[in-house]
Amino acid sequence: MRVTIERIMPGQDEKIALIRAYLVNHWCISEEEAERHLAPHNTLGLPQSWVAVLPTRVLVGHVMLALERNGLCGVKDQPWLQALFVQESLRMQGIGRILVRVVEETGRRYGYRFVYLDTIREMHFYRNLGWEEIGTDVWARGAEKDTVTVMRKRLD
Ligand SMILES: CC(C)(COP(=O)(O)OP(=O)(O)OC[C@H]1O[C@@H](n2cnc3c(N)ncnc32)[C@H](O)[C@@H]1OP(=O)(O)O)[C@@H](O)C(=O)NCCC(=O)NCCS
Repeated sequence: MRVTIERIMPGQDEKIALIRAYLVNHWCISEEEAERHLAPHNTLGLPQSWVAVLPTRVLVGHVMLALERNGLCGVKDQPWLQALFVQESLRMQGIGRILVRVVEETGRRYGYRFVYLDTIREMHFYRNLGWEEIGTDVWARGAEKDTVTVMRKRLD
């Protein structure tokens, strides 16, 4: 499957609207909170989002790199891979791997030693890509609670 990876830039309203809808539906957060996640809010220009796009210009995947002041498992001021998804009909064709690599390269370029993420059940996918588990924590939003595994990738 031939996809190109494009960074979402401010003003690309159509792409941003699609990602906002994903965050609201899959993360169960409000529109306002999704907006905050998507708007660059520090000097590195993080969070940054990328989309995987088919030659037909259809968006089939997304990933985001965000700086978390207080991450899970007591991780402070580190970059986190968030909101990775690939359209269901196009999974297992290498698109997820490419999106993860983009995040790792960006973290490396900014001089970070590690990039982090939390996941409920995709540990095997990330282990395959060289990530290690560092612990578990509870992810809570409103009444919703999940135990997540926190993982990191060494970037040097
Ligand atoms: C997880 C997800 C992003 C993977 O995307 P993908 O495009 O199917 O992944 P890839 O095709 O790049 O797979 C890369 C490698 O991981 C393996 N892999 C893919 N999905 C896997 C899974 N769910 N469990 C275990 N291994 C997996 C592939 O076989 C491949 O291994 P290989 O190189 O040895 O063949 C996709 O399944 C998804 O969008 N899931 C729903 C959203 C989600 O769970 N996001 C992660 C939240 S933390």
